[in-house]
Parts: sequence; C-alpha cells; structure tokens
Amino acid sequence: MAQKRALITGITGQDGSYLAEFLLSKNYQVFGLTRRTSTPNYERIKHIEDKIKLLPGDLLDQQSLTSAVDYSAPDEIYNLAAQSFVATSWSQPVLTGEFTALGVTRMLEAVRQIKPKAKFYQASSSEMFGMVHESPQSESTQFHPRSPYGVAKVYGHWITINYRESYDLFAVSGILFNHESPRRGLEFVTRKISHGVAKIYLGQANEIILGNLDAKRDWGFAGDYVKAMWLMLQQPKAQDFVVATGENHSVREFVEQAFKAVNITNWKKYVKTSKEYIRPAEVDFLIGDATKAKEALSWKPTVSFKELVAMMVKADVDLLKKNSR
Ligand code: NAP
Ligand code: GDD
Repeated sequence: MAQKRALITGITGQDGSYLAEFLLSKNYQVFGLTRRTSTPNYERIKHIEDKIKLLPGDLLDQQSLTSAVDYSAPDEIYNLAAQSFVATSWSQPVLTGEFTALGVTRMLEAVRQIKPKAKFYQASSSEMFGMVHESPQSESTQFHPRSPYGVAKVYGHWITINYRESYDLFAVSGILFNHESPRRGLEFVTRKISHGVAKIYLGQANEIILGNLDAKRDWGFAGDYVKAMWLMLQQPKAQDFVVATGENHSVREFVEQAFKAVNITNWKKYVKTSKEYIRPAEVDFLIGDATKAKEALSWKPTVSFKELVAMMVKADVDLLKKNSR
C-alpha cells in the first residue's frame, strides 16, 4: 500500500509534536506547516526533525496555505494551528479571530480548491461550552463561549461543518477537553504549576502566583488525545466527537497533587493568588462525556489524573536539574 501523507498545521505546538510522532509510528510521510520566526522554535520536534518535512506558511496568508496543501498533496490534514491561550484572547481579540476563526476558513478553502478528497481535522475545544448548559458536556450540548478564543473556536467548528455540508468534504471537528503533558506551554496553568513546584522542590523558587483556584477542568494526557484525532479520520463517515476523560478536578487539587508528587504537604505556604491572573469571564466547570468516542472509535484515556500530574512534575524536575548542570 502507498505510504499515506499527512499535513499538520501547528506542528511546533504541544499536540502537533505528539501527532507527528504518532503518524511517523504509523509510517506516514509527515509534513508540517511552520511560520517564520527570528529564532527557531523547534524545541518540541527537534528529535524528529530529520524525519519530517517542514513547509513555510501562516494562517494569515492564504497563498502560503494553498502552496503547503499543493506541495504536500496530503491524504489527511490536521489543522492544529491557532492562538490557543485563552487569556491572550482578551488582549488580542482581533488577532485571535484572524488565526483561530478565519484561519480555519483559509485552510478549508485551500483543501476545497487543491485537494478536496483529503480528510480534514479541525481542533475544536471544550472552551466552546463555556458557561455550561448541562453536565457532562457532549456533542449535543449547546455552546456558550466565554472568551474571544471560545467564540473564535465556535466559528471554526461551524465553518468546518458548513464546508462538510456545502462541498461534501470529509471534514471533522474534534471537541477536545484540556489535555496536558511535559510539552505544555509554560503559560497554561498545569505546566505553570508543575514547573513552579519543581523549582520550589529544587530550592530555586519559594512561591507560585496563580489566579482562580476553584476552576475545574477535565484534564487528560495529550499523547492519548492525538490518537483520537487520527481515529476520527479513519472512520467511514465524517462526524464530530467529544474527547475527554469524564473526570474533573479543580486547579487547587492540581496544585495539591503536584506538591504531593515531591512529598511536600504544607503546600499552602508556597501558593499565592493575584488578580493579574483572573479572567474577565471565567469558565468555571468543564467535564466531558466521551461515550460516542468510546463506542465508535474504541478510544479511551490511558493516563489518570494522578499519573499526569506526577509525569509533569517529574519531567520539570529532570529538566531543571539538566539545565542547572
Ligand atoms: P499550542 O501548543 O499553543 O500550539 C499552537 C500551534 O499553532 C503552534 O505550533 C503555533 O506555532 C501555531 N500557530 C499559531 N499561530 C499560527 C499562525 N498564524 N500560523 C501558523 N501557525 C500558527 O497548542 P496545542 O495545545 O498544541 O493545541 C493544538 C490545537 O488544539 C489548538 O488549535 C488549540 O486551540 C486546540 N485545543 C487544544 C486543547 C488543549 O488542551 N491543548 C484543547 C482543545 C483544543 P508557533 O510555535 O510558531 O507559535
Ligand atoms: N493560565 C493560567 N494561569 N490559568 C490559571 C491560573 C494561572 O495562573 N490560575 C488559575 N487559572 C485557571 C484559569 O482561570 C482557567 O480556569 C484554568 O486555570 C485553566 O486555564 P489554562 O490552563 O490557561 O487553560 P484553559 O482551560 O483556559 O484553556 C486550555 O484548554 C482549552 C480546552 O478547554 C487551552 O489549551 C485552550 O487552547 C483549550 O481550547
């Protein structure tokens, strides 16, 4: 059988790097879209750089996306690129809309014009549920986004469905709940905590400053979630799926568990809060119902909350030790 070809936008990000590894393990030829930066940011993919082909492009630039689709001639396209940090979406709402909303249309246009038979995955988000209308949240739960990022993702979600219905593209939207890993950006709360705890443990810091400790999230492991993306594109029919663990925890519980991983029990003395990290509108409570993914894709998470926290703290302790050598 001919080797399958996949194009990943956002390959330098957390999910892009895990997905590229996963597709290489399935013998795909992997192409990744990267935007120009003044210094290279290939930290997450440097171990596989010689096995993938990077193509220049930006979600703001239609021609570059069209060229990337043309050059890679993919069987599957994973649109993971986005301005993905919710907090930044209030300070840069227009840019977030350009990247995270209209960027999806630009990618879909490239597919429609150049490679309409390619299967397309859109990285939708549980942030679309925002102020939740029911719990747990499933594919049929109404959206009520609470950030410019969430609003942009709702647009991306519906334009994907619209291109599927208008042009008969195999275009699917994965509504993924929060997923984390040692490769998570340092600005997201889980990695901020694991990195902060590791520093405290090693005597390199004496506090972590956070925002809302009461927010609850359904946190899974990113490595598990990229497999679900791939499974969605292997189905006979294009459909949307929720991907989640079905369990949620508060930010406070994450903190407690992270300190526990390095045997620190009196964690409260190290944690402060600041208004600086409180959002204009908060998503208080997310918990996903992934029954459809479990039944149709035979997908299930393999890493528990405790294992995830321990994995992230250990990785940060190891990283900080290595960097201080
Ligand atoms: P991430 O680590 O922030 O990665 C985002 C990627 O998008 C990076 O490779 C980034 O490139 C790229 N990008 C940003 N703007 C771009 C532009 N204008 N043109 C081209 N590339 C651009 O995000 P992630 O956690 O891997 O998430 C992947 C996708 O899933 C995102 O769409 C996110 O919104 C969505 N999602 C994530 C989660 C989660 O919990 N992780 C849950 C639901 C949905 P640079 O390296 O150059 O910045
Ligand atoms: N980042 C951050 N920093 N968040 C904090 C902090 C802090 O110091 N203190 C408390 N929080 C709370 C936030 O208010 C939010 O309720 C929760 O921790 C999680 O924040 P993030 O880790 O930034 O993630 P997110 O849930 O807003 O967004 C992530 O998940 C979405 C899926 O639901 C991102 O990966 C999005 O791209 C993704 O779509």
